[in-house]
Amino acid sequence: MTEETFVPAASEWYYPSDEVVKNAYIQDYDAAYAEAMADTPAFWAKRAETLDWYQKWDKVLDDSNAPFYKWFVGGKTNIVLNALDRHIKTWRKNKLALIWEGEPGDKHTYSYWRLWQEVNKFANVLRSMGVKKGDRVTIYMGRIPELVIAMLATAKIGAVHSVVYGGFSEQALADRIEDAQSRVLVTCDGAWLRGNIVELKKIADQAVHKSPVVEHVVVVKRTGHDVHMQAGRDFWYHDLMALPIASTNSETEVMDAEDPLFILYTSGTTGKPKGILHTHGGYQVYTSTTLQWTFDIKDEDRWWCAADPGWITGHSYIVYAPLILGATGFMYEGAPNFPYPNRWWKLVEEYGITILYTAPTAIRGLMRFGDAWPKRHNLSSLRLLGSVGEPINPEAWKWYHSVIGGNKLPICDTWWMTETGGFMITPLPSVGLKPGSCTRPFPGIIADVVDDEGNSCPPGVEGKLVIKNPWPGMLRTVYGDPERMVKTYFSTYAKQGWYLAGDSARRDEDGYFWIIGRIDDVIKVSGYRLGTAEIESALVSHPSVAEAAVIGVPDEVRGNVIYAYCLPRAGVAISEELVDKLKQHVRDEIGPIAVPAKIEFVSVLPKTRSGKIMRRVLKARAMGMPEGDTSTLEE
Ligand code: PRX
Repeated sequence: MTEETFVPAASEWYYPSDEVVKNAYIQDYDAAYAEAMADTPAFWAKRAETLDWYQKWDKVLDDSNAPFYKWFVGGKTNIVLNALDRHIKTWRKNKLALIWEGEPGDKHTYSYWRLWQEVNKFANVLRSMGVKKGDRVTIYMGRIPELVIAMLATAKIGAVHSVVYGGFSEQALADRIEDAQSRVLVTCDGAWLRGNIVELKKIADQAVHKSPVVEHVVVVKRTGHDVHMQAGRDFWYHDLMALPIASTNSETEVMDAEDPLFILYTSGTTGKPKGILHTHGGYQVYTSTTLQWTFDIKDEDRWWCAADPGWITGHSYIVYAPLILGATGFMYEGAPNFPYPNRWWKLVEEYGITILYTAPTAIRGLMRFGDAWPKRHNLSSLRLLGSVGEPINPEAWKWYHSVIGGNKLPICDTWWMTETGGFMITPLPSVGLKPGSCTRPFPGIIADVVDDEGNSCPPGVEGKLVIKNPWPGMLRTVYGDPERMVKTYFSTYAKQGWYLAGDSARRDEDGYFWIIGRIDDVIKVSGYRLGTAEIESALVSHPSVAEAAVIGVPDEVRGNVIYAYCLPRAGVAISEELVDKLKQHVRDEIGPIAVPAKIEFVSVLPKTRSGKIMRRVLKARAMGMPEGDTSTLEE
């Protein structure tokens, strides 16, 4: 290792300082990787032994019904046993589990003891509403501690949570409630965002109207503005938590390792979102190991994963993994630039954050405001930085490294997906970095870049990213549609049994992976994952649109923005007003994250003779590039 910490070499390598290496759990990546690959089930078993189980597993991996793999078969546990119950028997009961700041500046802290008590109380509330093991509970909230409490309470009683991101509209929420058949919905009156109230309860009311399977709605009072409460159906969280039934004694349900923990909906190639299902046993082993080794979490750390708990990043690395490791996590409710663009840096300084994990879109967004904002603050508490959600461009990487990281902090660029449960290709802090590369696979993971026949691509050649072996954090199924899981992820390389990520990538001579982007009809907008089909179907559900095609166009800050091409129905007059109406319509159907940056009316859409829209042609046109082979074009 070089003495000069993190000075870029000519080849753009960045090496960690001796101190970073000395602190790292894994100081020799190659040795750790080799050990994990020598006997992978034994490796994961060793990791699982660091956690508590009511009963030990009989078999680490059952691959007899691949790709429906089972991990820690016969083991009995509950993720809450590891995330909370075990800590309150140790000194950690007094340690801060969660530090929270609201957008208006209000603050709350939870020790492990207090969090455990709140979770127990809410678990009893849910039980009193008749929620049992295996039942689904939908959670639709802003970024407040009660969201974490609701997730843990649901898991504690063996029910299955389905968290729907607070930026989704009533239709998206209704669809997800309906698919999961949740009888209980937990929400809040509103959430603060950029000084405004997001009317979550109002949206929830409309969703419940569309999806009447919901019998009870629990409402956390956050913003305190007037909301409609329907007698007999809606209850205030604080009223329920004050009832004698909400006692702090609550048994943790004994779960089979393979019992479901949560469903999380994500976008794919069809209009219907997929409910990705994760389980108690393997997920707890995978998320806690990946967090500990990648971000080197220690008891002294203050870990800030600046994602939303409503996405997988939040599930795995705000809620479960940090708590399992007994770490102190920080969570902030609002916008990064509210009221000024220094808000995040002020938070880092004030709370002494040691590790910051965020998305390239946030980095680029804050970079735009200039260096003066972070430079006002003392960021010297930081010791590691992280990135996730989309490829980080070298310019943003370098800004993050130099301005936020004082030219010395490593950036762990973690590649993974909702389906993988945790980090798959990621640097450990002791390895050399190259800006823009997520480096090499986590120990225990075999990743490759292959061509259509499954041959490994030579260095520098683009191909499909695949995972060639099972891992404990992998999805178990698509809720209610196991066939879709096989078809989407395991049919392209069925013969070999490999998992298809849906990303294209390159590997360089050093074996470092460079993610290029999605190969399917999925667009990453500000790190959010959206399906073109979802947005197209929202557009054509408007009476003025006959057909629609949606593409992602590169954008400096958001990674991609959405362009939509609409074929109007006969007799429809095209106007700016109609464009606004359609944008509003998409907002109502999916949510603000899906609103196209541009809507253009066309008289014809480029299609193949078999009727498939050639989005590639639209994209080339939008970007002013050659259209490529258009010989299959119908018109
Ligand atoms: O395209 C990849 C991109 O995000 C996709 C997964 O999206 P989602 O399930 O929403 O999960 C995001 C958070 C884990 C991937 O198929 N992606 C994720 N991380 C990276 C990335 N692309 C490049 N570099 C990353 N570090």
